[in-house]
Amino acid sequence: MNTVGFIFDLDGVIVDTAKYHFLAWKNLANSLGIDFSKEQNEQLKGVSRIRSLEKILGWGNKTISQEKFEALLDEKNEEYLRYIESMDESEILPDVPRILNLLLENNSPIALGSASKNARAILKKVDLIDKFNAIVDGNDVTKAKPDPEVFTNAAEKIKVIPNKCVVFEDSVAGIQAAKKANMLAIGIGEKDILHEADHIFKSFEEISSEFITKLMKN
Ligand code: BG6
Ligand code: MG
Repeated sequence: MNTVGFIFDLDGVIVDTAKYHFLAWKNLANSLGIDFSKEQNEQLKGVSRIRSLEKILGWGNKTISQEKFEALLDEKNEEYLRYIESMDESEILPDVPRILNLLLENNSPIALGSASKNARAILKKVDLIDKFNAIVDGNDVTKAKPDPEVFTNAAEKIKVIPNKCVVFEDSVAGIQAAKKANMLAIGIGEKDILHEADHIFKSFEEISSEFITKLMKN
């Protein structure tokens, strides 16, 4: 079958939530006396909640009990949920609806491939959930990005073979996961950070409809 499938990451690709993850992790790190920079934040993008906390503790050379670890995970998520509580369509990133609608008009299979356990709730809040044929999120996988599991599961759900899938990602871990899955990786963000991607655009505003149409015919 020659159908091309399109898999979207969520945070930082579809919605502008990467800034809320950053704020919540920064507050948590600082409360433990650990500095947290934008560069370190890049290493957490696309990374699971548990792995993110492990990395922060590693940067600060801190060891804590399992109980405290669980409590911090809850604390981080509670702060994040407060940020996204009042989220609506205005936080959909520019031109995402144009690209999704173009794919829908052409009956291209569309999946979500996100590390977030909050993905379904966010898609409902911004009223995009109905645009997706399949959703794979942090509740559905055992191995986090850069492991390819989230994308290979998404490909299976939309019944498209991996090398006919296109992935949109804003994180280094996500680009690596897409490449390991043998998919075409499109980076949304900065060239110097996402250089492992096959194509890189600052945002969907830079992606022409002709480019997407070409990908559909790949
Ligand atoms: C990814 C984000 O999409 O989801 C990460 O880029 C986040 O920053 C991860 O840690 C897990 O998300 P959540 O919402 O389950 O904590
Ligand atoms: Mg992301």
